Amino acid sequence: MLIEMPRHTEIFGSLKIHEMQRVLKIDSGGFENPRAKDIPFDKIKDVLRRLALVIPVKDENINLLDGVLRAIPFDCTIIVVSNSKREPQDIYKMEKDVVARIHDYSQQEILCIHQKDPQLGFAFYEAGYEYLLDNDKLVRDGKSEGMIAGMILAKSLGKEFIGFTDADNYIPSSVREYVIDYAAGFCMAESPYSMVRLHWRYKPKVVDDKLYFKKWGRVSETTNKYLNLLISTRTGFETGVVITGNAGEHALTTKLADIMSYSTGYSVEPYHFIYLFDNYGLEVEEMAHPDAASAGIEIFQIETLNPHIHEEKGEEHVDNMLLGSLSTIYHCKLCNDYVRSKVLEELGDIMKLETPKKTVIMPSIGGIDPHRFVKILEGTAESFARFEQGTIESEEEREVEET
Ligand code: GDD
Repeated sequence: MLIEMPRHTEIFGSLKIHEMQRVLKIDSGGFENPRAKDIPFDKIKDVLRRLALVIPVKDENINLLDGVLRAIPFDCTIIVVSNSKREPQDIYKMEKDVVARIHDYSQQEILCIHQKDPQLGFAFYEAGYEYLLDNDKLVRDGKSEGMIAGMILAKSLGKEFIGFTDADNYIPSSVREYVIDYAAGFCMAESPYSMVRLHWRYKPKVVDDKLYFKKWGRVSETTNKYLNLLISTRTGFETGVVITGNAGEHALTTKLADIMSYSTGYSVEPYHFIYLFDNYGLEVEEMAHPDAASAGIEIFQIETLNPHIHEEKGEEHVDNMLLGSLSTIYHCKLCNDYVRSKVLEELGDIMKLETPKKTVIMPSIGGIDPHRFVKILEGTAESFARFEQGTIESEEEREVEET
């Protein structure tokens, strides 16, 4: 892959936030120039083998999930965490059937589980991690909650990198690119604590019967503005470096995943920044993880080549997402009266004069023993399925079998 070098890197305490990098060629020929980095495909493949891709899914069109599953490069492991309906029709069963069929003809390693499986709740309970359980000791609804389950499964496989992709993508090949972009980011990273966040080049909409290649969505534009304002008010220098505040498509090293805290539902992505600002930003006095602080935490923001076309879920959904995002900003330690007043102004119509509630924050998952966690699931969790990677028989083995 040939990818632009970042033109600037914002240093904010222990954080290195790289400016947007464009994908110049998905497949390149080894020609480097001062403005671009060439990453050979064997290096990308090496990262893919150490990466698990988590797909959180809730009642999406099964054809979309099917396309996403088929587009994910073979070398990485897929982990599907579903919160889809189980009755009157068992949508999860349909999803598992699709997974089984894909495994049947590809032999790719795929794990899947249902978020509401009582044994999943029990495994979290046994691990002493009850922050995402409801009163019935089941995992709460929420995309972030599903992502956390996925991360622990990834850790149980010893994966060093964990990526996420939504299940409602209409362009399967864009998903393939996203995963390759993650790997490219990790090939460039110098710190073991790093994250790759994708910025879609376009998010097309139909306007007056024509496709309009829109660049920004309302939520991401607003979230980015306020995340940048948090940095600017602290440093005294205006910045526009953050362009991936709501990046649903992102990946991180397992080392970083282990130390982060997570916000509930859809506020998970903007909260990544808030957690990092509060704990590793400028002039933070106490470092929770000095190793990470001294290694530095790198954030790559890659602009995809593909446009992103996904299922639209309506205005109310968008308002809720905006509210969740801005709540995390409002309650950030860096947030001063000026930023708070601006956030309230922004939320005007949605909040109707109330102040945004603090979102639920779930602490780090680093203390959970992933092997014990999976042991609880194996054999007891009805929804848990593990489709192992097939081994391709060598010619000699085949000959032995035939004789
Ligand atoms: N496991 C699980 N549990 N998955 C869920 C849940 C849940 O409770 N709720 C939603 N999902 C899945 C959806 O099925 C989809 O695959 C993915 O999470 C994203 O949910 P959408 O409802 O499609 O979100 P969106 O498209 O509006 O927003 C996405 O993009 C934003 C950036 O533009 C999300 O990824 C946001 O988190 C992101 O900020």
